Amino acid sequence: MAVSSQRGCGETMSQNTVDWSGIYKQALEQGGLVVPYREVGPQYGLEEVEAAVEAMQGDILTQGPFLKAFQDEFAEYVGTDFALGVSSCTGALEIATQLLEIREGDEVIVPAITFIATVIPLLRVKAKVVFADLDPETHLISPASIEAQITDRTKAIIVVHMNGMPCDMDPIMDLARKHDLKVIEDCAHAMGAEYKGTKAGAIGDIGCFSFHTVKNISTLGEGGMLTTNDAEFARLIPLSRWVGMDLYEDLEKYWIPFFYDIRSVKGGVPYNFCLGEVQANVGRVQLKKLAWMNDRRREMAARITAGIADLEEITVPSVPDDRVHSYHLYPVLYDGSGYGTNRDHFMDVLFHEFGIKTAPHYLPPYKFEIMREMGYPEDLCPEAERIYSQLTNTPMNMSLTDEQVDYTIESIVKTVEKLRSGNTKPEMNFS
Ligand SMILES: Cc1ncc(COP(=O)(O)O)c(C=O)c1O
Repeated sequence: MAVSSQRGCGETMSQNTVDWSGIYKQALEQGGLVVPYREVGPQYGLEEVEAAVEAMQGDILTQGPFLKAFQDEFAEYVGTDFALGVSSCTGALEIATQLLEIREGDEVIVPAITFIATVIPLLRVKAKVVFADLDPETHLISPASIEAQITDRTKAIIVVHMNGMPCDMDPIMDLARKHDLKVIEDCAHAMGAEYKGTKAGAIGDIGCFSFHTVKNISTLGEGGMLTTNDAEFARLIPLSRWVGMDLYEDLEKYWIPFFYDIRSVKGGVPYNFCLGEVQANVGRVQLKKLAWMNDRRREMAARITAGIADLEEITVPSVPDDRVHSYHLYPVLYDGSGYGTNRDHFMDVLFHEFGIKTAPHYLPPYKFEIMREMGYPEDLCPEAERIYSQLTNTPMNMSLTDEQVDYTIESIVKTVEKLRSGNTKPEMNFS
């Protein structure tokens, strides 16, 4: 029997009176996971069900009143003039690439560790992806490394607020202004995160958010949002996201005979990346719950940070005082090189002996076949290589109980001790 960490519909966070130690033991003995790496990030309750049903009963199921309301509420939350919903963050990044007229031969600077979606739109238009290395303390894109990569061909910088921690945006924006570059914020992990009091997604030229199943808020598995203060971008995004027309505008101007025209976007061919009404209305409910869900993430993260602080072999990214972290992920770095063990051994013991699944994402994108085939070298950025070789992410989602968090801490401590003393024989080696 695996211990299910799933909450029922509408169930609120409650104190548990179950004898967890017995259940953990039983789960382990039966080959189950005590702390799964769950693929649903936020909490869903009856309020989302009601919102979905409400939207289902509307007169239109896409580009209707619920998307409009979600966009307005989202813009207000993030603090931008505009927010425009799309079907994914990858779609948002495709649109941003189109708006910034990034074309073949242009160079775009991205961090050396991110999800492949950050670079996919660049690969599609044959832009050159230029990797900037990471800051050794925060593990975020380093402004000094960005500066070193700027050339005459550089057109934009994509920052990724990795794990939910905003990048050091002041020096990055200074560089962008100095060299006349645009800045895209990949906010897939950073819903609700802040840099010096400003929300992620309100600092660069365009913010791109994800509501994929694992994210801090989700619109039933897929979804995304673009944020911007640029009125021209806001005018063009509806065209780019839906086959070259703005349905809201066209409906307003409707006149018989029905006529519409299809427009290109900055010379590019538009997409279809719409977010449906049911998803948008669920997103509105999720947005209202974001503050307490992020508080809960921060509470769990603080507990883990304190619980593993004394382990010499473990480090975590440091969080500068001027950031509000949204803890989409909780990465831990294991360095057991002093006694011949590695991150894979650490993951192996946590998984096989303690029933905790961790996940070593994200790889530097240049390591993937798709990029190697294009001629990108495999070991480009030394700091990213070091970080990735030690990195795994502990489970972090709204279904985790305090008991599971404490069990995770205890298990990390015991795993490190076992590896230190040689009192275990892990076999996994997938790097
Ligand atoms: C950093 C980053 N950027 C972009 C994306 C793409 O998001 P989506 O799945 O909504 O397309 C992800 C998804 O995990 C991500 O982690």
